[in-house]
Amino acid sequence: MKGSIVDAVKDLVVDNFGSKMWEDILEGAGLDRFTTVRLLDDVPDEVVMKVLEVAMDKLNLSFDELADVFGEYWINVYVPKVYKPYLRRIKSAKVLLLKLDDIHQKVVRNIPNANPPRFDYRWESPDVLIMKYKSPRNLVRVFVGIVKALGNKYGEFVDVTMLSNNEVRIRFRGE
Ligand code: HEM
Repeated sequence: MKGSIVDAVKDLVVDNFGSKMWEDILEGAGLDRFTTVRLLDDVPDEVVMKVLEVAMDKLNLSFDELADVFGEYWINVYVPKVYKPYLRRIKSAKVLLLKLDDIHQKVVRNIPNANPPRFDYRWESPDVLIMKYKSPRNLVRVFVGIVKALGNKYGEFVDVTMLSNNEVRIRFRGE
């Protein structure tokens, strides 16, 4: 995976718990305390998983809690800072979600070795969208955390339900 997720986790930890905590997490994951991960670096998926695991342990958060905290940080702080152009002209969570597959394809178009998640869409009824998350990384709970954060930001969803390890149901408020 590219370095973006680890870089975002780093910013989240440093902003909220300080740099010593981040160095402890790196060390706990078997890395040098002063490792730097840049956006375009290739980070093996196992290393990303290990960092998330150690972060849960040191911050005393369950995977669900970490996924929700990460979702809020990703949408409200990290994406606006690092990928601002992709949010331009987006006025609603629905529009952003419907563009999500295109956004991920576009953002990595010129980046070698990138392998972003893919998304399929199916409307179950006019207000209920089923999104299929396709990724070998099985971070569907992180996907749900980000979707929930979008709902909080735009106040648009009644609920978000994880149907399986690759499907999520999003119920929008009726028009
Ligand atoms: C709007 C701007 C966004 C940008 C620019 C963006 C960009 C990226 C990038 C660069 C990666 C790493 C890809 C790789 O390593 O190949 C990534 C991963 C990911 N993104 Fe996004 N993203 C955005 C929004 C979202 C939103 C709104 C969601 C969910 C609702 C989401 C869900 C995910 C997940 C779950 C991953 C982890 C990788 C995986 O599961 O395979 N992203 N994103």
